[in-house]
Amino acid sequence: MLIEETALRARIAELGQEISAEYAGRELLLVGVLKGAVFFMADLMRHLTVPCEVDFMAISSYGAATDSSGVVRILKDLDINIEDRHVLIVEDIIDSGLTLSYLVRNLESRSPATLEICALLTKPERREQDVDVRWIGFEIPNRFVIGYGLDFAERYRNLPYVGVLSDELVAEAT
Ligand code: IMP
Ligand code: MG
Repeated sequence: MLIEETALRARIAELGQEISAEYAGRELLLVGVLKGAVFFMADLMRHLTVPCEVDFMAISSYGAATDSSGVVRILKDLDINIEDRHVLIVEDIIDSGLTLSYLVRNLESRSPATLEICALLTKPERREQDVDVRWIGFEIPNRFVIGYGLDFAERYRNLPYVGVLSDELVAEAT
């Protein structure tokens, strides 16, 4: 156990308030990065008081391994045009930063009015590529984590808390 359900809930409510205050008077488009961010995004959205819409992107990351390949590929693009929209990327975790820095460059080229990032978790020790993240839920140590959307080999996303992957769980999933 690294972050309990109650701590997640409290921090996400705070983030929701901060983001709502920042975007007051504007309409927000949340862009969720599939699949891990879905859980965080659904909870965060319910704390937003500004009008908001959602869309999703899927980009390739680790597959079943626990280390970044550095290769980023769009598997599913946005359905809508983000030109002149206020876009907030919602991500589960920033590790090396490779995925997000690619995504930011890609979305910037589509001329949004504003583009910011909100990530539930970050592992600063692992950063290879700097990314400007406006809102962060929790900084965590350099451990592989699962739960609350985060997977190992597609498993354990349904845990209601964030935990560190143990050897027993690796054996169970592989
Ligand atoms: P980055 O490109 O190295 O920043 O990787 C970001 C992506 O890798 C995240 O969106 C996750 O899908 C995945 N990832 C990174 N660290 C973890 C972890 O500890 N547990 C589960 N997935 C992770
Ligand atoms: Mg991800």
